[in-house]
Amino acid sequence: MTSLVEENDRLRRENLRLAGERAVFIRYIREKVNELLVLLKCPTMNADNLGDIELIGYDPIGTIAVSFSRVLDNLKETNERLTKEISERKRYEEELQKAEKLESIGILAGGIAHDFNNLLTGVLGNLSIARIRAPGAADIHENLSKAEKACLRARDLTRQLLIFSKGGAPIRKATAIAAVLRESAECTLRGSDVLCEFSLPDDLPPVDIDEGQIGQVVNNLIVNADQAMPGGGTLRVEARTVEVGPGDPLPIRPGRYVRVTVSDTGIGIPKEALPRIFDPFYTTKEKGSGLGLTTAYSILRHHDGMITAVSEPGEGTTFSLYLPVSRDAVPRDAKPAENSRKGRVLVMDDEAMVREVALEFLGHLGYEGEAVVSGEEAIAAYRVAREAGRPYSAVIMDLTIPGGMGGKAAVRKLRDLDPDVRAIVSSGYSNDPVMADPGKFGFRGVIAKPYRMRELGEVVDQVLSGGGAASLAGSA
Ligand SMILES: Nc1ncnc2c1ncn2[C@@H]1O[C@H](COP(=O)(O)OP(=O)(O)OP(=O)(O)O)[C@@H](O)[C@H]1O
Ligand SMILES: [Mg+2]
Repeated sequence: MTSLVEENDRLRRENLRLAGERAVFIRYIREKVNELLVLLKCPTMNADNLGDIELIGYDPIGTIAVSFSRVLDNLKETNERLTKEISERKRYEEELQKAEKLESIGILAGGIAHDFNNLLTGVLGNLSIARIRAPGAADIHENLSKAEKACLRARDLTRQLLIFSKGGAPIRKATAIAAVLRESAECTLRGSDVLCEFSLPDDLPPVDIDEGQIGQVVNNLIVNADQAMPGGGTLRVEARTVEVGPGDPLPIRPGRYVRVTVSDTGIGIPKEALPRIFDPFYTTKEKGSGLGLTTAYSILRHHDGMITAVSEPGEGTTFSLYLPVSRDAVPRDAKPAENSRKGRVLVMDDEAMVREVALEFLGHLGYEGEAVVSGEEAIAAYRVAREAGRPYSAVIMDLTIPGGMGGKAAVRKLRDLDPDVRAIVSSGYSNDPVMADPGKFGFRGVIAKPYRMRELGEVVDQVLSGGGAASLAGSA
C-alpha cells in the first residue's frame, strides 16, 4: 500500500511534469502563432462552437489556445466599411450643402433677375441705338462697344446664376456650331500668346442648342485652356459628327451628335484632381469661382448632351462636348432677305424702357411697332387692328405683368381670336417652363431679355417666315 506521503510525492512530480509540458506547449504556440492568442481554461468548450474564434491547440489539463485574428479581421473589415460609408455620407452631405447654397444663390438671383434683365434691356438697347445715331464717330463707337460688352457680361452673369436656380432650361434652336466656336475662340484669345487651330468641316449638321448657354460653355473652356498655357501653346478646336450607339459607355441617348473637342498643350490636370473639376467651387486659381465647369456640366445635361475631360499632366487637356444633332436640316438663323421685312408688330411689356427699346429696334429692322402695357390691352389692340383690316403680323409679349394679365394667359385669348396668331414670348426669367417650351403654350417664338437688335430681328424673321418654337418643340 502506498503511503500518503508517496502518493503526494507522485502527484507533485506529475504536476511538475504537466507544468513543464504546459510551458513547452505555450512556447510552441507562441512561436507558431504570431498573432493575438488567448489561453482559456475551459476543458468543456466545444471547438465546434467557437464561431470566428480559431482553435489553435489544447493541452492535457484543459487549457485551450484560441486565436482572435479572424474576429479581428472581421472587425477591421467592418471598421473599414463603416469609415468608407461615413466619408461617403459626409461627401454627400457636403454636396448637398453646396447644392443648397447654390440654390439659395439661384433663388436670390431669380428674384432680382426680372428687374435686372429689364434694366439691362434698356441699357443695352440704348447703346445699340446710340451707335446707330452716331454714325462715323469711331471713338464714341469704341466706348459704346465697351459698355455693350460689359452689359453682355452682366447678362451672362445673371444667366449663369439662373442656371443654378431651377436648372435654367435652355432655349434651343437649330444652330450652326462652327460660327459659335470661331467667334468665341477669336474673341477670348485676342491678345493672348496662344495659337488657335480649327478643324471644323463644312458639312457639320446644325445642333439644337441655346446659343447663349453653349457659347458660355465654350468660352469657359477656352479661358481655362488659355490660363493653363501661361507660356503660350496651341489650342485646337475640332468638331466632328459622331454616332453614339446603345452599347456606348456615354450616359446619353443613342443617336447622332456633334462632338466638339477643345484641346490645349497646357499644364494638364493631376490624376487625383480630374474627378473633382466639375464639382461646384473646385478651383486651383486664386481668383477662380470654380463654377465654370459646374455650369458647363449642368448646361450640357440640360441639352441632353455630355461633357467629358481627359488630361495628361504636363502635356495638356482635352474637353469633349456632345451636342445632339438637330432634326432641322438648316440652321434657324439662316436669315431672310433684309428687305423682306415688313408688317406691324405689337409689343406688350409693363416696363417703359423695354417698350421704347423694342419699338426703336423694330423701326430700325424695318417693322412698324406699336406698344401696350398689359395682356388686356394687347387683346383689345389686336382685335381693333384686325377689324380695321390692319392686323399685326406678330406680337411680342412679356411673360409676367405685375397686377395684370401676362403673356401666358393673353396668348390663349389671342388664339381664340386668331388661331394663326404669331406670338413671341419674352422674359427675363429664362428658366420659366414657358420659355423652355413655348410651343406647348401657344407661342411661335421666344426671346430672353435683355436682347440685342440682331437677336430680336432673328426671332421676328423666324416667326414670320413660318418657322418657330411650335415646330421645334414638336407640338402644336
Ligand atoms: N484646360 C485646363 N487645364 C488645366 N486645368 C484645368 C483646365 N480646365 C479646368 N482646369 C482645372 O479645373 C478647375 C475648375 O475649372 P472651372 O472652370 O470650373 O473653374 P475656374 O476656372 O477655376 O474658375 P472660373 O471658371 O470661375 O473662373 C480649374 O481651377 C483648374 O484647376
Ligand atoms: Mg473656368
